[in-house]
Amino acid sequence: MAASARVTRNILCIGAGYVGGPTMAVIAARCPQYRVTVVDVNPVRIDAWNSDRLPIYEPGLLEIVKIARNRNLFFSTDIGRGIGEAEVIFVSVNTPTKTFGAGAGKAADLQYWEKTARDILRASRSDKIIVEKSTLPVRTARAMERILEANDKGIRFEVLSNPEFLAEGTAVDDLNNPDRVLIGSHETEAGIKARNVLVEIYANWVPVERILTSNVWSAELSKLASNAFLAQRISSINSISALCEKTEANVNEVARAIGMDRRIGNRFLRASVGFGGSCFKKDILNLVYLCEKYGLHEVALYWESVIAINDYQKRRFVKTMLRVMFNTIAGKKIALFGFAFKADTGDTRESPAIDVARELAEEQAHVVITDPQALRNAENDLASCRMQVTFTEDPYEAASGAHAIAVMTEWELYKTLDYQRIFDGMEKPAFLFDGRNILDHEKLHEIGFNVFPVGEAALKHF
Ligand code: NAD
Ligand code: UGA
Repeated sequence: MAASARVTRNILCIGAGYVGGPTMAVIAARCPQYRVTVVDVNPVRIDAWNSDRLPIYEPGLLEIVKIARNRNLFFSTDIGRGIGEAEVIFVSVNTPTKTFGAGAGKAADLQYWEKTARDILRASRSDKIIVEKSTLPVRTARAMERILEANDKGIRFEVLSNPEFLAEGTAVDDLNNPDRVLIGSHETEAGIKARNVLVEIYANWVPVERILTSNVWSAELSKLASNAFLAQRISSINSISALCEKTEANVNEVARAIGMDRRIGNRFLRASVGFGGSCFKKDILNLVYLCEKYGLHEVALYWESVIAINDYQKRRFVKTMLRVMFNTIAGKKIALFGFAFKADTGDTRESPAIDVARELAEEQAHVVITDPQALRNAENDLASCRMQVTFTEDPYEAASGAHAIAVMTEWELYKTLDYQRIFDGMEKPAFLFDGRNILDHEKLHEIGFNVFPVGEAALKHF
């Protein structure tokens, strides 16, 4: 910043990932009066944030990073210095599912989270507001407080919960124009004072009626519940898609009919090959673990079924492919259109395409992956079946000589391809499995494809 006297707050974010990077970029771009620093243990990530090749792909992100970078937005690996200088510290480190020990496969792995608490304690010389941005089990703020209170420096820390609701692919829009911002605090004088600081930061661009306040535990739980409700809607419509395929009902028509009921609403009712992404599964597992911990076994089972249906939907998709392709795909070339877990991101974490590709490879198919943003991640995800898989950015090349295409990601570009050209270059009979129901199925059928959507009658030539 030209004149440091204009800086009215020093804000730090620990964790420069999908949440920390975009969230801080928007705060810095919106609020030139704050100095915002994002730190991470990973120097490669930090170097990428300081370059024009950002570590994550998000529409509009580079533009806003460029507005603020080296003005009032800084990316650094100097965590200690960042903590020392900051008055408000957001923590947005990863909180994956635990893979070892007690709670393995369900509980949240809080080792990165706890390490930040200890780093904060070590490097702090003055009072601070700590903001939980990561998604955490309910009552994690208490653990953070206990660690931070164990100091003999006379420093006071106030812990707030401010979960993030952005979705990948629309992160910049979501941050600029959030449905709501949720801030949980203790109802003490210090808690309310800290909460007001955070409200003031968001009020720079978010209408105050969209800034909700609650107690800390409600804020923590609202984040887990929100993701569970969203995922539940997808599993609900996907469960109906299976019934549609048996009864000649059409899942898009059913979704439209039920979605027009304003009590239900029409969003998040797109049947698909299954939901992916780094959070839905992990957050539901976390919720299930918490319920089990508190002896709420029926509640745990209820939420677990959302994941069971999602796994079922992915398996069902591959089963259909195998069945209709005469029960053998060994040696056949199959093109996967898309690998990202959704459009407009290069993120492949928990992408249904991973399971589909692995199962096809297990059946000894030759799988060709095409995706405009996710090929680098796809190569890592499929390292275990590398012999069966190839990669290309060009969808025409991917489909050339293929027996089947399976649409895995709803990228706009797949809607406008020349499917006559693609059909001409494929083995016959040519199959198309639309795992996102985004293509014009009638037209594809007219061209000559045998088309298998999700939750709709197949359009076949035999
Ligand atoms: P991410 O893996 O992309 O980023 C986390 C970053 O934290 C990594 O760069 C890692 O190197 C860094 N880190 C880990 N330990 C550290 C430490 N001790 N000190 C400094 N840096 C450290 O994760 P993400 O997708 O940004 O998610 C972060 C949190 O936000 C998770 O709890 C997630 O559930 C939640 N969340 C994610 C999204 C999303 O769309 N990805 C949306 C809402 C909430
Ligand atoms: C989701 C939530 O939407 C965010 O509010 C939340 O902050 C975030 O998780 C998180 O906590 O990480 P995200 O996973 O980025 O965001 O993307 P979504 O748009 O929710 O899509 C998740 C998955 O569901 C994708 O695979 C998508 O293709 C699939 N989906 C979505 C469907 O199959 N059908 C739908 O109708 C909607």
